[in-house]
Amino acid sequence: MMDKRLLALVPNAMRHVLMTVMWQFVGLVANVCFVWAASSVLASLVEGTDVQTMTCGVLIALGLAGRTVSARMAQRVSFEASADVKRITRRRIYEKLLRLGPHYADDIATAEVVQLSVEGCDQLETYFGQYLPQLFYSVLAPLALFAVVAPICPPAAVVLLVCVPLIPVVIVIIQKIAKRILAKYWDQYAALGDNFLENLQGLSTLKIYGADAARHEQMNREAEHFREVTMAVLSMQLNSIIVMDIVALGGAAAGISVAIFAVARGSVDLFGAILIALLSADFFIPMRQLGSYFHVAMNGMAAADKIFRLLELPDPAERTETPASGAHFSMRDASFSYDGEREVLHHVSIDVPAVGLTAVVGESGSGKSTIATLLTGGEDGYTGSVCLGDAQVRDIARTSLARYATTVETASFLFQGTVRDNLALANPEATDEQMWKALGVAALADYLRTQEGLDTRLEAQAANLSGGQRQRLALARALLAQSSVYIFDEATSNIDVESEEHIMEAVQALARYKAVLVISHRLANVVGAQRIYVLDHGSVVGEGTHGELLESCPRYRELWDAQRSLEQYGEVRHEEN
Ligand SMILES: Nc1ncnc2c1ncn2[C@@H]1O[C@H](COP(=O)(O)OP(=O)(O)OP(=O)(O)O)[C@@H](O)[C@H]1O
Ligand SMILES: [Mg+2]
Repeated sequence: MMDKRLLALVPNAMRHVLMTVMWQFVGLVANVCFVWAASSVLASLVEGTDVQTMTCGVLIALGLAGRTVSARMAQRVSFEASADVKRITRRRIYEKLLRLGPHYADDIATAEVVQLSVEGCDQLETYFGQYLPQLFYSVLAPLALFAVVAPICPPAAVVLLVCVPLIPVVIVIIQKIAKRILAKYWDQYAALGDNFLENLQGLSTLKIYGADAARHEQMNREAEHFREVTMAVLSMQLNSIIVMDIVALGGAAAGISVAIFAVARGSVDLFGAILIALLSADFFIPMRQLGSYFHVAMNGMAAADKIFRLLELPDPAERTETPASGAHFSMRDASFSYDGEREVLHHVSIDVPAVGLTAVVGESGSGKSTIATLLTGGEDGYTGSVCLGDAQVRDIARTSLARYATTVETASFLFQGTVRDNLALANPEATDEQMWKALGVAALADYLRTQEGLDTRLEAQAANLSGGQRQRLALARALLAQSSVYIFDEATSNIDVESEEHIMEAVQALARYKAVLVISHRLANVVGAQRIYVLDHGSVVGEGTHGELLESCPRYRELWDAQRSLEQYGEVRHEEN
């Protein structure tokens, strides 16, 4: 019922918990004063004896004031504990994700991370803010009341005290059932969230293929499963509340019966009997309250299990190296497999000199993008060496690697906001003039001038731009980044031939003072490269300039001829039309 890992996660929380318990205890003492005074007033009214009005009045007033103040204070401290817990847990999750880097998604779905950070943490709040203090208080309160009642009527005090632990027994039995149902609840919840997110993101594709109705059905089925498990959780909670109420009320009734019996026998006076009757429920209320927090706390603990699963994932080895200025990328005898079974690169050796245009060509699936992924530290599990200067890429800190090398892919991410916002990501200090220059190089300036210039608004993922315009903007952004190395992976695949040629001229110009690696299926783009590597099924089958490769590499010649004939066919068709 107390999770040590959770306590260790939020070290300060224990202090808050004890403070809450202290204020609850002050409330209990105030309540006993109040009940004591009220009982003696009632007893003397019934028996017609004198009552010490002054003392009783003061005790009642103090009792009421004490109860109000302590309730407020307990609430306040418990709120502080909750706020602390949420803040700390969310920070831990965030820091963990940063340490895991882009690979976090291998181990946990994004939707689950979102759910854990939001709702999971909210449920932990109840665990620390209410459940834990109540756990201590529900043990302390019956013992304190026992000390009050025992001198008046020992048998009643014993009966009341003995009945209290029946509630935790019920709780433990429920816990056994609850744990299973709650684990299922969280699994279903995460799965539903995951599919919902995916379906939402892929909605246009689903519409295009008319597959939205089937997905709709599938989500309905999943939602129905989730409803069922939610109802199971709720009914378990309601049933357990009924059982706990029966135990609590039954226990109080037993205590009161013993007290009445003692009055009849004359061993307890009327004051004592009223006092026991009024306090008997207080024996059970804290434990009963614990029972109702228990369900939310159980939810929190189920969430905590998942949070710890994330927090306890092994951290990737720390990367501390920084690239020396002028360092160049090289791969030596590098082999790599994504899944540990099928090797997609075999003993690849390439060099990307610090200045100049290098190219990798090859048919689709030959491993070109995988080379870019390895060079930029996207995957670590290679054999052989992938170096930037003297350091292995896998040892270089991600931030310095990202600053050193910029990749432009077919689908680079663009954010909602203005064109300026997106460009400023690469270089917050860039002036308007520099931005326009980069846009000019990427052949997007003319279009933007017809819009609102740098203040042109972009919808989410730049949905209001064409595919080609998106690529141009991503290209302009990369140019502003002022990295030492640029990797263009099919960066112009959506762009018409004329603009592509214009952009490739800019890339060539860039290569006069930077390292540029162009990955392209279109060989015409790379004829000017200082060195071209030809990739075939994951192996380098040729390297050299365009002229050298035409002579020496049959695979390159094949690719070149195939593309030439395609393009000539295109030109002939164009002329015919
Ligand atoms: N994330 C991944 N997980 C598992 N396998 C992958 C992953 N990415 C690529 N692959 C596999 O690795 C091989 C090489 O893929 P890669 O993306 O490097 O090819 P490519 O030459 O860039 O192709 P294209 O010209 O189509 O972009 C392919 O067989 C592909 O199935
Ligand atoms: Mg690729």
